[in-house]
Amino acid sequence: MAIERTFSIIKPDATRRNLTGAINAKIEGAGLRIVAQKRVKWGKAEAEAFYGVHKERPFFKDLVTFMMSGPIVVQVLEGENAVAKYREVMGATNPANAAPGTIRKEFAESIEANSVHGSDSPENAAIEIGQVFKPDEIVG
Ligand code: CMP
Repeated sequence: MAIERTFSIIKPDATRRNLTGAINAKIEGAGLRIVAQKRVKWGKAEAEAFYGVHKERPFFKDLVTFMMSGPIVVQVLEGENAVAKYREVMGATNPANAAPGTIRKEFAESIEANSVHGSDSPENAAIEIGQVFKPDEIVG
């Protein structure tokens, strides 16, 4: 199977509760490698641009406000089948539906404050990685 990359965000609800290390342990425990990582705080322009695909959704404005509410950790994860594997490790978007042992089951507060984001396809992973990282910031 091909080595793939996916884009990850550890969201403000998780950084606020000091969960970056616990989430990274789940990521690395699943065999994914963190090949880029930085802690940043997004402004309105960055949050709106990143979640632009959701701009018609009723939750868009609240989501943007939430993503600006504190530091986030943006990451590139690498490994076999990384996109699907990370989605498994994260669990369902709504923590009420997430499987036991997943990041969202263990840590998420709500469907909005759901601790992590992960790309939904290899194509979107490439787009999201390109929005946030320069090529020389990714060290595989
Ligand atoms: P994420 O995987 O980052 O993609 C879109 C985000 O919108 C999602 O996680 C949630 O944080 C947020 N969100 C808030 N409300 C909803 C909702 N009703 N359905 C889906 N996503 C939601």
